Amino acid sequence: MSSLDVARIRKDFPILNERVNGRPLVFLDSAASSQKPVQVLAAMEHIYRATYANVHRGVYWNSEQSTELYDDARCKIAQFIGAPSPENVIFVRNATEGLNLVAYSYGRHFLKAGDEVLLTEFEHHANFVPWHVLAKERGVKLKFIPMTQQGTLDLSKLDELLTPQVKLVTFAQVSNVLGTITDPRSIIDRAHAIGAKVIVDGCQSTPHMPINVQAMDCDFYAFSGHKMLGPTGIGILYGKRELLEAMPPFMTGGDMIGSVSFEDVTWADVPVKFEAGTPAFVEAIGLGAAVDYLSAIGMEAVRTHEKETVAYAIERMSEVPGATIIGPTDPEIRGGALTFTIKDIHPHDLGTLLDREGVAIRAGHHCAQPLHIRLGLKATARASFYIYTEQREIDALIEAIYKAKHTLRK
Ligand SMILES: Cc1ncc(COP(=O)(O)O)c(C=O)c1O
Repeated sequence: MSSLDVARIRKDFPILNERVNGRPLVFLDSAASSQKPVQVLAAMEHIYRATYANVHRGVYWNSEQSTELYDDARCKIAQFIGAPSPENVIFVRNATEGLNLVAYSYGRHFLKAGDEVLLTEFEHHANFVPWHVLAKERGVKLKFIPMTQQGTLDLSKLDELLTPQVKLVTFAQVSNVLGTITDPRSIIDRAHAIGAKVIVDGCQSTPHMPINVQAMDCDFYAFSGHKMLGPTGIGILYGKRELLEAMPPFMTGGDMIGSVSFEDVTWADVPVKFEAGTPAFVEAIGLGAAVDYLSAIGMEAVRTHEKETVAYAIERMSEVPGATIIGPTDPEIRGGALTFTIKDIHPHDLGTLLDREGVAIRAGHHCAQPLHIRLGLKATARASFYIYTEQREIDALIEAIYKAKHTLRK
């Protein structure tokens, strides 16, 4: 029995009634991107069918309507993450763009040769590569918080790592591979004590648990809409106002200016200073509808459901001979993703055989190659869950794994 009415929720997701390879779809790849409820599809379709016009441009009804709904979406999202004001919320394409914005605008403006950025060994490439590039370009040094055997961060080394040269600290609140949940305050307070700014990658946490950026006291927080029932092409960068105001624009062009003359340009106020060009406003409104949907369920209830689901998945996976779970096995510190290997079966072969049974999982390095190097693995398999995941789907996964083992005689 789940703490959520999953059967009721599933009715809002038409794709879950589809069949794949002649079998009912068992979608276990929500950590890569979630499915969308009819409420999000309807909000976007209504604009395209009935009211569409560009934002910020017109004095006519349709344009004013778009602008109003777009501004409204920003307010909903600000409230959802506990931001002090909608002006702290910048619309970007995805978490990747949000993290790049900080690396390019804050990083290149405020960091110099000899400064250090502290990250973790389990970062997604989106929170790894921008810092690599900055390090090469500016002579900035990268350092890494190591992991324990269980796949949690080894914070016993943190004070040693937080030298005066560290100007930025960044980490994923939930690892997309290990599922590890890190208490942000356990790092943020100590980083702030040495004057470093902190960026939290909230890509795998915002969709799955209550978030309050003010309580967290992070300086920047990035996440993607498509992993939390919203459309692709829209994401959020939250930033503390004084930092956003001190930073130069990331991209320039229309909308983000105060005024332009032949001699000079001034910038619009935040957040518009960081939103050059026509924004993905229909997608932003779609994300607003997704936030409404999640808020109606309640993020505490979402987290409870995922804790129960991952606990059941860990229990079932532990019974499978040759299965190794990667990351913590305590559901209290594990988000809704279960990463594993099956002895003598390559994760890609496993993924292909599971697909024949209609079971969709992810196989590969999950954009976390440094972590896989650290684990001594080339690839892993990952089943990930969301509000619409039922226990019978985990049973279907386990059954399909047994079938794959039988087919390959493993
Ligand atoms: C932890 C984490 N950070 C960042 C990203 C990048 O997200 P996007 O590809 O939507 O920019 C992902 C995507 O899987 C992720 O899991």
